[in-house]
Amino acid sequence: MKGIILAGGNGTRLLPLTKITSKQLLPVYDKPMVFYPLETLLNAGIKDILFIVAPSHAGDFLKLLGSGKQFGAKFTYEIQDKPEGLAQAFIIGAEFIADDNVTMILGDNIFEDDFSKTIMNFKSGGHVFAKEVPDPERFGVVKFDADMNAVQIEEKPKTHLSNYAVTGLYIYDNRVVEAARQAQPSERGELEITELHNWYLKKGELKVDIVKGEWIDAGTFDTLLRASNLMAEKAKKIQ
Ligand code: TTP
Repeated sequence: MKGIILAGGNGTRLLPLTKITSKQLLPVYDKPMVFYPLETLLNAGIKDILFIVAPSHAGDFLKLLGSGKQFGAKFTYEIQDKPEGLAQAFIIGAEFIADDNVTMILGDNIFEDDFSKTIMNFKSGGHVFAKEVPDPERFGVVKFDADMNAVQIEEKPKTHLSNYAVTGLYIYDNRVVEAARQAQPSERGELEITELHNWYLKKGELKVDIVKGEWIDAGTFDTLLRASNLMAEKAKKIQ
């Protein structure tokens, strides 16, 4: 299993904080934000990790994270010239993924849960992680059956689909590269991750797991603050 941390993007909702640095390098309590998704992958036993970053801050990521040796891992870096969508990660990362399965995590997603069992037991298909939220229309939303098979998945649905948002952690088999290459840009000009999910869903191969504990997409001022507060509380509990 290979790992990808997607840490490009514009971070416009965090301006002016993101004018001089990348969102994923901003502090969340006592660490740069990207350390949290990195720990999620490392804790799940993934040691071969590709960081996809924007050109303007690539050097800072390299300076912060280095070869990966310090983390007992091997890090690779690729540049995404423009933020043309989450699914583009699998085109940029095709050579890195080679013949393996891949877990991708978004560089601004913070999870309390431990995904090691699901990742270690993964065989084939696609696997997404859902969280019940009060405002599902802001997210990609998934409806699933009693056997945890996805039955419908939609980006920011206008009519109610379910209360479960698709979080920023995804596991796919090697065919994800092929699915990404077949994807067409959406109206907003991006290769949408939902297209990949629908590719697996149509084949009846998209599974869903429920995220335990907190999940924070730290891309706004309020959620960035919430993430820092959560980590500060956890650190105090440990002391
Ligand atoms: P978003 O939060 O959707 O986008 P953004 O980071 O550009 O922020 P904003 O909407 O405020 O402008 O992205 C989610 C994560 O995915 C984040 O870690 C950035 C990353 N990302 C990329 O690396 N490349 C992309 O093409 C996109 C769309 C996102």
